[in-house]
Amino acid sequence: MTFCNKYYIIKVCEISQKVITVSAVTTTGRSDKVKNYVSASVLSADMLNLQDEIRKLESSGIEMLHFDVMDGIFVNNITFGLPVLEMVRKSTDMTLDVHLMITDPLKYAERFAKAGADYISFHIESESDTAETIKAIRSGGAKPALAIKPATPAEAVYEYLDQLDMVLVMTVEPGFGGQSFIPETTEKVRKIRNKADELGLDIMVEVDGGINDSTSEIVKEAGANVLVSGSYLFRAADMASAAAGLRKGKIC
Ligand code: DX5
Ligand code: ZN
Repeated sequence: MTFCNKYYIIKVCEISQKVITVSAVTTTGRSDKVKNYVSASVLSADMLNLQDEIRKLESSGIEMLHFDVMDGIFVNNITFGLPVLEMVRKSTDMTLDVHLMITDPLKYAERFAKAGADYISFHIESESDTAETIKAIRSGGAKPALAIKPATPAEAVYEYLDQLDMVLVMTVEPGFGGQSFIPETTEKVRKIRNKADELGLDIMVEVDGGINDSTSEIVKEAGANVLVSGSYLFRAADMASAAAGLRKGKIC
Protein backbone atom coordinates (compact mmCIF):
# COMPACT_ATOMS: atom_id res chain seq x y z
CA MET A 1 0.00 0.00 0.00
CA THR A 2 1.35 3.41 -0.91
CA PHE A 3 0.86 6.14 1.64
CA CYS A 4 2.67 8.92 -0.15
CA ASN A 5 0.22 9.25 -2.96
CA LYS A 6 -1.77 12.42 -2.43
CA TYR A 7 -4.98 10.58 -3.23
CA TYR A 8 -4.42 8.10 -0.41
CA ILE A 9 -3.50 10.45 2.41
CA ILE A 10 -7.02 11.24 3.59
CA LYS A 11 -8.01 7.59 3.47
CA VAL A 12 -4.91 6.48 5.33
CA CYS A 13 -5.69 8.83 8.18
CA GLU A 14 -9.07 7.22 8.55
CA ILE A 15 -7.67 3.71 8.85
CA SER A 16 -6.84 2.38 12.29
CA GLN A 17 -3.45 3.21 13.78
CA LYS A 18 -2.46 -0.45 13.85
CA VAL A 19 -3.00 -0.98 10.14
CA ILE A 20 -1.07 2.14 9.20
CA THR A 21 1.76 1.18 11.50
CA VAL A 22 2.27 -2.35 10.26
CA SER A 23 1.99 -1.49 6.59
CA ALA A 24 4.04 1.66 6.69
CA VAL A 25 7.02 0.35 8.63
CA THR A 26 7.35 -2.73 6.50
CA THR A 27 7.21 -0.72 3.29
CA THR A 28 10.34 1.03 2.09
CA GLY A 29 10.44 4.38 0.39
CA ARG A 30 8.19 7.36 0.61
CA SER A 31 5.52 5.68 2.70
CA ASP A 32 7.82 5.59 5.73
CA LYS A 33 8.28 9.34 5.80
CA VAL A 34 4.72 10.54 6.17
CA LYS A 35 4.30 9.19 9.66
CA ASN A 36 6.12 9.41 12.94
CA TYR A 37 7.18 6.28 14.79
CA VAL A 38 8.19 5.59 18.35
CA SER A 39 11.09 3.22 18.91
CA ALA A 40 11.27 2.07 22.55
CA SER A 41 14.80 1.58 23.87
CA VAL A 42 15.23 -1.84 25.49
CA LEU A 43 18.06 -0.33 27.54
CA SER A 44 15.45 1.14 29.88
CA ALA A 45 13.34 -2.03 30.11
CA ASP A 46 13.29 -4.44 33.04
CA MET A 47 15.54 -7.12 31.55
CA LEU A 48 14.39 -9.75 34.04
CA ASN A 49 10.88 -9.38 32.69
CA LEU A 50 11.60 -8.55 29.08
CA GLN A 51 8.73 -10.55 27.67
CA ASP A 52 6.22 -8.68 29.86
CA GLU A 53 7.84 -5.40 28.88
CA ILE A 54 7.48 -6.26 25.19
CA ARG A 55 3.78 -7.12 25.68
CA LYS A 56 3.32 -3.75 27.37
CA LEU A 57 4.97 -1.94 24.45
CA GLU A 58 2.78 -3.82 21.98
CA SER A 59 -0.40 -3.04 23.86
CA SER A 60 0.65 0.61 24.03
CA GLY A 61 0.74 0.71 20.21
CA ILE A 62 4.51 1.22 19.99
CA GLU A 63 5.81 0.27 16.58
CA MET A 64 9.53 -0.26 17.00
CA LEU A 65 11.91 -1.78 19.52
CA HIS A 66 15.28 -0.02 19.75
CA PHE A 67 18.01 -2.51 20.63
CA ASP A 68 21.28 -0.86 21.74
CA VAL A 69 24.33 -3.08 21.23
CA MET A 70 27.50 -1.79 22.95
CA ASP A 71 30.87 -3.50 22.92
CA GLY A 72 32.69 -1.63 25.70
CA ILE A 73 35.21 -0.27 23.17
CA PHE A 74 33.32 1.98 20.79
CA VAL A 75 31.44 3.25 23.83
CA ASN A 76 32.20 2.93 27.49
CA ASN A 77 29.47 0.43 28.28
CA ILE A 78 28.52 -3.18 27.47
CA THR A 79 24.94 -4.28 26.86
CA PHE A 80 23.50 -7.28 25.02
CA GLY A 81 23.98 -8.96 21.66
CA LEU A 82 22.92 -11.66 19.22
CA PRO A 83 21.42 -14.30 21.55
CA VAL A 84 19.13 -11.75 23.20
CA LEU A 85 18.09 -10.34 19.82
CA GLU A 86 17.21 -13.84 18.60
CA MET A 87 14.99 -14.37 21.65
CA VAL A 88 13.32 -11.01 21.22
CA ARG A 89 12.68 -11.78 17.53
CA LYS A 90 10.85 -14.97 18.51
CA SER A 91 8.78 -13.06 21.03
CA THR A 92 7.41 -10.21 18.90
CA ASP A 93 6.49 -8.97 15.45
CA MET A 94 7.45 -5.39 16.36
CA THR A 95 9.95 -3.73 14.03
CA LEU A 96 13.39 -4.42 15.49
CA ASP A 97 15.60 -1.34 15.26
CA VAL A 98 19.15 -2.42 16.13
CA HIS A 99 21.68 0.29 16.99
CA LEU A 100 25.24 -1.03 16.82
CA MET A 101 27.64 0.98 18.97
CA ILE A 102 30.53 -1.33 18.20
CA THR A 103 34.01 -0.89 16.75
CA ASP A 104 33.66 -3.21 13.76
CA PRO A 105 30.02 -3.34 12.62
CA LEU A 106 30.98 -4.88 9.25
CA LYS A 107 32.10 -8.03 11.05
CA TYR A 108 28.67 -8.51 12.68
CA ALA A 109 26.22 -6.81 10.29
CA GLU A 110 25.06 -9.92 8.50
CA ARG A 111 24.67 -11.89 11.73
CA PHE A 112 22.47 -9.20 13.28
CA ALA A 113 20.39 -9.16 10.11
CA LYS A 114 19.98 -12.94 10.23
CA ALA A 115 19.15 -12.77 13.94
CA GLY A 116 16.04 -10.78 13.04
CA ALA A 117 16.92 -7.09 12.88
CA ASP A 118 14.67 -5.07 10.56
CA TYR A 119 16.80 -1.92 10.67
CA ILE A 120 20.49 -1.89 11.55
CA SER A 121 22.18 1.40 12.44
CA PHE A 122 25.95 1.57 12.65
CA HIS A 123 28.26 4.48 13.30
CA ILE A 124 30.15 6.37 10.62
CA GLU A 125 32.80 6.91 13.34
CA SER A 126 33.37 3.16 13.64
CA GLU A 127 36.37 1.44 12.04
CA SER A 128 34.39 -0.38 9.35
CA ASP A 129 34.16 0.76 5.75
CA THR A 130 30.84 2.60 5.51
CA ALA A 131 29.79 1.54 1.99
CA GLU A 132 30.74 -2.10 2.62
CA THR A 133 28.80 -2.19 5.87
CA ILE A 134 25.70 -0.76 4.20
CA LYS A 135 25.97 -3.50 1.56
CA ALA A 136 26.45 -6.24 4.16
CA ILE A 137 23.36 -5.13 6.08
CA ARG A 138 21.26 -5.13 2.93
CA SER A 139 22.57 -8.46 1.68
CA GLY A 140 21.74 -9.91 5.10
CA GLY A 141 18.13 -8.84 4.57
CA ALA A 142 17.91 -5.77 6.86
CA LYS A 143 17.54 -2.05 6.16
CA PRO A 144 20.72 -0.02 6.64
CA ALA A 145 20.90 3.13 8.74
CA LEU A 146 23.91 5.35 9.33
CA ALA A 147 24.39 6.87 12.78
CA ILE A 148 26.34 10.00 13.69
CA LYS A 149 27.55 11.15 17.08
CA PRO A 150 26.85 14.73 18.26
CA ALA A 151 30.24 16.04 17.10
CA THR A 152 29.99 14.61 13.58
CA PRO A 153 28.63 17.07 11.00
CA ALA A 154 25.45 16.33 9.07
CA GLU A 155 27.38 16.60 5.81
CA ALA A 156 29.26 13.38 6.63
CA VAL A 157 26.24 11.26 5.68
CA TYR A 158 25.31 13.07 2.44
CA GLU A 159 27.30 10.83 0.09
CA TYR A 160 25.57 7.72 1.49
CA LEU A 161 21.99 9.00 1.61
CA ASP A 162 20.87 7.24 -1.57
CA GLN A 163 22.03 3.89 -0.16
CA LEU A 164 20.25 4.21 3.18
CA ASP A 165 16.79 3.61 4.61
CA MET A 166 17.43 5.74 7.66
CA VAL A 167 19.88 8.17 9.26
CA LEU A 168 20.25 8.11 13.04
CA VAL A 169 21.21 11.45 14.56
CA MET A 170 22.46 10.91 18.10
CA THR A 171 21.02 13.64 20.31
CA VAL A 172 23.25 12.59 23.25
CA GLU A 173 26.70 11.02 23.39
CA PRO A 174 26.15 7.29 22.78
CA GLY A 175 26.73 4.94 25.70
CA PHE A 176 24.05 5.47 28.31
CA GLY A 177 20.34 6.08 28.66
CA GLY A 178 18.91 8.89 30.76
CA GLN A 179 21.08 11.74 29.45
CA SER A 180 19.91 15.23 28.50
CA PHE A 181 19.13 16.16 24.92
CA ILE A 182 21.86 18.22 23.18
CA PRO A 183 19.98 21.11 21.46
CA GLU A 184 22.73 21.74 18.88
CA THR A 185 21.93 18.41 17.21
CA THR A 186 18.59 19.76 15.98
CA GLU A 187 20.14 21.64 13.08
CA LYS A 188 21.79 18.43 11.87
CA VAL A 189 18.38 16.78 11.69
CA ARG A 190 17.12 19.71 9.64
CA LYS A 191 20.11 19.63 7.28
CA ILE A 192 19.78 15.89 6.67
CA ARG A 193 16.03 16.09 6.07
CA ASN A 194 16.50 19.03 3.71
CA LYS A 195 19.28 17.26 1.82
CA ALA A 196 17.19 14.12 1.45
CA ASP A 197 14.27 16.19 0.15
CA GLU A 198 16.58 17.98 -2.27
CA LEU A 199 17.76 14.60 -3.59
CA GLY A 200 14.20 13.26 -3.72
CA LEU A 201 14.93 10.58 -1.13
CA ASP A 202 12.32 9.49 1.37
CA ILE A 203 14.51 8.13 4.11
CA MET A 204 13.60 7.98 7.77
CA VAL A 205 15.43 10.34 10.14
CA GLU A 206 15.75 8.93 13.64
CA VAL A 207 16.77 10.73 16.82
CA ASP A 208 18.12 8.99 19.89
CA GLY A 209 18.82 10.30 23.36
CA GLY A 210 16.96 12.55 25.77
CA ILE A 211 13.72 12.42 23.79
CA ASN A 212 10.64 13.34 25.81
CA ASP A 213 7.39 15.26 25.38
CA SER A 214 9.15 18.59 24.86
CA THR A 215 12.34 17.66 22.97
CA SER A 216 10.29 15.49 20.60
CA GLU A 217 8.49 18.62 19.38
CA ILE A 218 11.79 20.30 18.52
CA VAL A 219 13.19 17.37 16.53
CA LYS A 220 9.94 16.60 14.71
CA GLU A 221 9.72 20.22 13.58
CA ALA A 222 13.27 19.84 12.21
CA GLY A 223 12.31 16.73 10.22
CA ALA A 224 12.85 13.69 12.44
CA ASN A 225 10.20 10.99 12.15
CA VAL A 226 11.54 8.10 14.28
CA LEU A 227 11.70 8.97 17.97
CA VAL A 228 13.77 6.67 20.16
CA SER A 229 12.74 6.86 23.77
CA GLY A 230 14.03 4.94 26.77
CA SER A 231 13.73 6.52 30.18
CA TYR A 232 10.82 8.84 29.32
CA LEU A 233 8.69 6.03 27.93
CA PHE A 234 9.44 3.35 30.52
CA ARG A 235 8.94 5.78 33.42
CA ALA A 236 5.64 7.09 32.08
CA ALA A 237 2.57 6.32 34.18
CA ASP A 238 0.64 5.78 30.95
CA MET A 239 2.95 4.40 28.27
CA ALA A 240 0.34 4.52 25.49
CA SER A 241 -0.40 8.21 25.95
CA ALA A 242 3.30 9.06 26.35
CA ALA A 243 3.98 7.29 23.04
CA ALA A 244 1.04 9.03 21.38
CA GLY A 245 2.45 12.37 22.52
CA LEU A 246 5.86 11.57 21.08
CA ARG A 247 4.37 10.43 17.80
CA LYS A 248 1.77 13.11 17.21
CA GLY A 249 2.12 15.47 14.28
CA LYS A 250 2.75 15.06 10.56
CA ILE A 251 -0.17 14.13 8.35
CA CYS A 252 -2.41 12.08 10.66
C1 DX5 B 1 22.28 5.81 24.16
C2 DX5 B 1 21.33 4.88 23.47
C3 DX5 B 1 19.92 5.30 23.52
C4 DX5 B 1 19.31 5.36 24.89
C5 DX5 B 1 18.20 6.36 24.90
O1 DX5 B 1 23.58 5.45 23.82
O2 DX5 B 1 21.69 4.76 22.10
O3 DX5 B 1 19.12 4.49 22.68
O4 DX5 B 1 18.81 4.12 25.31
O5 DX5 B 1 17.75 6.50 26.20
P1 DX5 B 1 17.01 7.80 26.75
O6 DX5 B 1 15.72 7.91 25.98
O7 DX5 B 1 16.81 7.48 28.19
O8 DX5 B 1 17.92 8.95 26.51
ZN1 ZN C 1 20.36 3.85 20.61
